[in-house]
Amino acid sequence: MELRPRLRVNGSSAHPLTNFIEQTHRRLAGENAGAVADYIPELKKAKPAHFGVAMATLDGQVYEAGDSAVAFTIQSISKAFVFALALETVGAARIESTIGVEPSGDAFNSIRLRSDNRPFNPMVNAGAIACSGLMQEAEGDKAFEAIRSALSRFAGRELAVDEAAFASERLTGDRNRAIAYLLHSYDIVKGDVDTVLDVYFRQCSVLVTARDLALMAATLANGGVNPLSGERVIRPYTVARALSVMISSGMYDFAGEWIYRVGVPAKSGVGGGIIAALPSQFGLGTFSPLLDEHGNSVRGLKVCEALSEHFELHMLNRTSDVRSCIVADYDFARVSPRGRQSHEQKILDEHATAVRVLELTGTLSFANVDLIARRILSKPLPQVLVLDLRRVLTVSTGAVKMLGGLIESLEPADLMPVISGVDRGSAILDLVTASLGKGSRLRDFALLDEAIEWAEDQIIFRFGGFTHLLDATDLAEQELLIGLAPELIAQVGALAAPRRFHTGERIISAGAPSSSIFFLQSGMVSVKLADGVRLATLVPGMAFGEMALVERHRAADVWADTSVQCAELTLDDFDAFRTRHPEVGERIMRNLAGLLARRLGRANTRIDTLSALRSA
Ligand code: DON
Repeated sequence: MELRPRLRVNGSSAHPLTNFIEQTHRRLAGENAGAVADYIPELKKAKPAHFGVAMATLDGQVYEAGDSAVAFTIQSISKAFVFALALETVGAARIESTIGVEPSGDAFNSIRLRSDNRPFNPMVNAGAIACSGLMQEAEGDKAFEAIRSALSRFAGRELAVDEAAFASERLTGDRNRAIAYLLHSYDIVKGDVDTVLDVYFRQCSVLVTARDLALMAATLANGGVNPLSGERVIRPYTVARALSVMISSGMYDFAGEWIYRVGVPAKSGVGGGIIAALPSQFGLGTFSPLLDEHGNSVRGLKVCEALSEHFELHMLNRTSDVRSCIVADYDFARVSPRGRQSHEQKILDEHATAVRVLELTGTLSFANVDLIARRILSKPLPQVLVLDLRRVLTVSTGAVKMLGGLIESLEPADLMPVISGVDRGSAILDLVTASLGKGSRLRDFALLDEAIEWAEDQIIFRFGGFTHLLDATDLAEQELLIGLAPELIAQVGALAAPRRFHTGERIISAGAPSSSIFFLQSGMVSVKLADGVRLATLVPGMAFGEMALVERHRAADVWADTSVQCAELTLDDFDAFRTRHPEVGERIMRNLAGLLARRLGRANTRIDTLSALRSA
């Protein structure tokens, strides 16, 4: 979906973010502090004036300004992604026994190791070389291709290598060579050191643009899923670990100040790139080769600082109202779309609190489910609890565990847990069912209406009101004929023609002329709009097509949900009968008015509930 952030008013973008990024770029373009990296000769060729900014949202929108399409070498930014890849490839235990996760407080190319001779963290060169070594051990000759392909999946396009930069660093990489041999001497790097270094130098020489970096960062911010390709590149577990080391060590001996002032997990590279990834919000990529004394891009730092300050993006500056996750909490009597026979309705009215529905919304966190649990336990437990998740976007792992724990603790109280609004096989449903024990009676329904109907059936069944839908009912039970003398009902019966329909058959088509009324005697039919939206489900004792008494054309389709038996009374026969028995006509029209009033009442209750949802 291409939004139109490019719409301009008086030369400035109408979109506040595009505007801010363009203004900030214009303002900082004149900033010339810093120097281009020169210890890798090829990097000296970078143009100091180059300056690009890109921000990618989690739905794939990318805002860009300046040289956001100019390619440069990724350098140390690759470390965050290769650490993530190594974590997924060799596993946490191996990684944690090889590399620490503590900030060193030293420069990126320090040869100092921890007291146990492990590198301080995977963001400094020593830790990064150790990561490349682990990839070499695991993938052998395919190690670099595994890295290049992973970086490409983060960027959402195939990335290439700047062979000149690779050769240049290889030629001059003595310091890294020293680090690598030191690590080899402590068995941190195994196998051939130069092979491992080649993997490391090549990964640093992968060509990216600020736009690529924004998408790579947005993939981290999006829990490991690339917002443009939709591909899951890494697991949420790995994202959390990668962002953690980016927070503590991503900006080297400037990391503390960075987190304090900007508060967004970030990683820089001597090629002039910076990535910043704010979880659940966005990914940012900047490019400007002028570096400060820490090896961080001067203009890039200032862009991040300006954005964070202006839009208050500090990751720890978070408040959210956990209460907003519950948008409706009611018992089933209020909204069921399903028509019920009078004895069924009586049971439902008598047990109005037997089913409770909580409609939830947003991203469910640990704190949300805590509130939901307290809300549920604040009232006597229902017999059926329906949690509707159709407005829930994601559920955190902690929230799933809480939800599973809640459901498991309620089931022994003879409560039937139901989840609605989720499709079979959906991630949320799989997570919740996986968190429950084998014996759970959890039911799931794609539609809330279906869940409520099922719950009603359970209550009706529990309180002995269950009648088989296919048991034929007498016309005397027809709600439209209530109050008529038995002989008059018999005459209506004689006029009406018995009709049978198979399951799935369309009985009435929307738009067709209204020519008759149907009295449903056995089976179930659904009234649906042309697009399949179900308006109501009718059971024996109810009439359909009755609006023919007041409307010339059918307003909706009627389908047989089961095999159906009914009596069809043509309007002509009814009019003739009414002329002979005006009191009957008057009685039936009063019953129809009563029916429509009840339907209106239910519809208003649904609208109330829905508007309560909207205003919540
Ligand atoms: O190993 C090096 O020195 C370079 N390939 C990468 C260093 C780097 O990007 C440091 N970042 N600010």
